[in-house]
Amino acid sequence: MANNVDAYHVPVMAQEICDRLLINPDGNYLDGTLGGGGHAEFFLEKLNPSACYIAIDRDSEALAFAAQRLKRFSNIVYYQGLFSEMDAALQKAGVESVDGILLDLGVSSHQIDSDGRGFAFRPGVLLDMRMDMEDVLTATDVLNGYDVRELTFVFKEYGEERFSGRIAREIVKRRSKEKIIISNQLMEIIQRCVPGKFLTKSYARIFQALRIEVNRELPILKEALENALLVLKPGGRIAVLSYHSLEDRIVKNFIRHQENPCECPPEIPYCVCGKKPQLRKLKPALITAGEDEIKLNPRARSAKLRVGEKL
Ligand SMILES: C[S@@+](CC[C@H](N)C(=O)[O-])C[C@H]1O[C@@H](n2cnc3c(N)ncnc32)[C@H](O)[C@@H]1O
Repeated sequence: MANNVDAYHVPVMAQEICDRLLINPDGNYLDGTLGGGGHAEFFLEKLNPSACYIAIDRDSEALAFAAQRLKRFSNIVYYQGLFSEMDAALQKAGVESVDGILLDLGVSSHQIDSDGRGFAFRPGVLLDMRMDMEDVLTATDVLNGYDVRELTFVFKEYGEERFSGRIAREIVKRRSKEKIIISNQLMEIIQRCVPGKFLTKSYARIFQALRIEVNRELPILKEALENALLVLKPGGRIAVLSYHSLEDRIVKNFIRHQENPCECPPEIPYCVCGKKPQLRKLKPALITAGEDEIKLNPRARSAKLRVGEKL
């Protein structure tokens, strides 16, 4: 199983997360992004059998793989759905609150490596990009259905792509001749709009932007962070691993805001809005992977870990 599980996905900063999150070996934990079950296995090995591990993923294939990997543990409850649906997952497990929450954002290596899922900018890949194959919207729908303004917004906001407008217009021109369904077509379009030296970065940005739009990643993350405050015990912790600046900014701003949510104007000498701090950030505020881990797992290079503690 070892090679098989490593090929699926190697968990990032498992020890660093464990040190900060697993504060009670008999506690309840929510893993919002089970994926291949790498973090789950690492944590379950350290937790007592009386602990409860609630594992969410929106991808049924990931849940099936992880359930097989983790079948020796009887204290795990699986939930297929969004990690923002924490309440429903806790209800399924019969627990009211948790000591720790992990969100390891984005897609797994296995999802990227599977041509059928359409996440990677390799030739010959159908532009799908749904994490949950039951969802309705695909990348093909976005590319063939959104108007220039909407496409530009997606590429600019979610990809931070400099040539967004040009690429959006070229997409609309191309699709008047043929439907855009395969990665090669999108890559050709990007090639027409972007100078060669920026090409690889632009491929990555446009594919990332489409993935974020198709899976509604940013609004779901914001909702999940708010919901985490409702299910964390006082002293409980939330750890979020993000892989690009848009996600990291949301997490950083959320923790900062919850540390000091008071909305009173600075000239008022005392608080009248009544909004009390709900979180404190664990220091250091930003944790990144060590060089040794990055050598073994290049995916760890872009990872940023932030941890907040419920007050
Ligand atoms: C980076 S992988 C997690 C890898 C996992 N920590 C491990 O060690 O194997 C992210 C996983 O989260 C899932 N996912 C992403 N966004 C989600 C969301 N909003 N709700 C539920 N699952 C989500 C993806 O389907 C993917 O399987």
